[in-house]
Amino acid sequence: MSVDISNAILVTGGAGFIGSNFVLQSLAHTGAPLINLDLLTYAGNPENLASLQGDSRYRLVQGDICDSELVASLLREHRPRAVVHFAAESHVDRSIADPRAFIRTNVEGTFNLLQQSRLYWAELDDRSKNAFRFLHVSTDEVYGSLGAEDPAFSETTPYAPNSPYAASKAASDHLARSYFHTWGLPVLTTNCSNNYGPFQFPEKLIPLVILNALERKALPVYGDGMNVRDWLFVEDHCAAIRTVLEHGRIGETYNIGGNSERTNIDVVTTICDLVDEMRPQAASAPRRNLITFVKDRPGHDRRYAIDASKISQELGWKPAEQFEGGLRKTVAWYLANTAWVEGVKTGAYRDWISKNYSERGNI
Ligand code: NAD
Ligand code: TYD
Repeated sequence: MSVDISNAILVTGGAGFIGSNFVLQSLAHTGAPLINLDLLTYAGNPENLASLQGDSRYRLVQGDICDSELVASLLREHRPRAVVHFAAESHVDRSIADPRAFIRTNVEGTFNLLQQSRLYWAELDDRSKNAFRFLHVSTDEVYGSLGAEDPAFSETTPYAPNSPYAASKAASDHLARSYFHTWGLPVLTTNCSNNYGPFQFPEKLIPLVILNALERKALPVYGDGMNVRDWLFVEDHCAAIRTVLEHGRIGETYNIGGNSERTNIDVVTTICDLVDEMRPQAASAPRRNLITFVKDRPGHDRRYAIDASKISQELGWKPAEQFEGGLRKTVAWYLANTAWVEGVKTGAYRDWISKNYSERGNI
């Protein structure tokens, strides 16, 4: 017996930074139901989605993407038209401190989702088979590191992951590719540059520096501060994912980037100036004085840059936000949302900060 799909979407990792922005944006734009499968690790925060309380279109299921029975039963129950897969261990420094969870969630978890999706998809009627999508959310870090003069990463740049995080994401990308080529599962893959914006856990550079600057704590910059990242406002990333989901060609990968390459030291000084402007303290020294160079990350990739011409030419997507405007909005959001900020500074968060930075010295 063949079955047809509903208009629901199964999102994984929807309580994390990008996933929660995606859930909020999707529900604001469509009436389609959304099921969020999230283990609620240290990085998953249901408070990000508190505004959806009582919204019958949204359901949170606390569970593991590695749990094959759970994934199979959610697919059977909701018959989603798409799986949008964000769930991952996502922090490079944690992958250096302890890589095991990265292999489990990013590799095994993605494998399990692909496998259960394939079994579900095989039972669909032809119309539903054609309409179904599995969208795998990945990173530009799979491409390795660029020199100052190298051209930006394109979809044909060879994979050269350098951290356990990047290697686990590269493995998951290859698995996604194989499910399209071997079985025809309608897979789409997106490789995006560094995101910033509301709801980002303050272990990552931008929110960490905003919160430390507010409290006048040291602002840790790894190495010489000249590493370059290509920053994209998270809402632009979510809009790109929605575009690829609706219009992307199956089996293809799409690079997504902000066209905003900045050195880390540039990013940190800009945040200092924004916090000085928004929280002026007449008698105090400029927050730039808090910048502290600390021991570098081992294997620290020097530069990432994305060539996003494929998604722009094929699908018409472009980032709406410039880096300086997006950063201003982001600083303002962290200043305004004090309850959210206090809620994420748990004991586990403090333990990580103390572990990561005490080993680096100087702060
Ligand atoms: P995040 O760390 O903020 O959130 C990850 C979410 O996944 C959390 O809600 C967590 O609870 C959940 N999760 C972890 N393990 C799970 C498991 N086994 N089962 C179910 N849920 C689990 O991550 P993020 O920054 O929002 O990144 C989301 C995705 O986007 C990741 O796949 C990441 O590789 C990719 N990405 C991130 C960036 C970035 O700059 N943050 C850039 C490009 C791509
Ligand atoms: P991060 O936000 O961890 O993202 P990624 O490593 O995935 O690019 O780091 C962004 C850049 O900032 C990266 O070059 C490492 C650097 N960095 C610091 O200099 N200090 C810090 O405390 C952190 C967390 C990152």
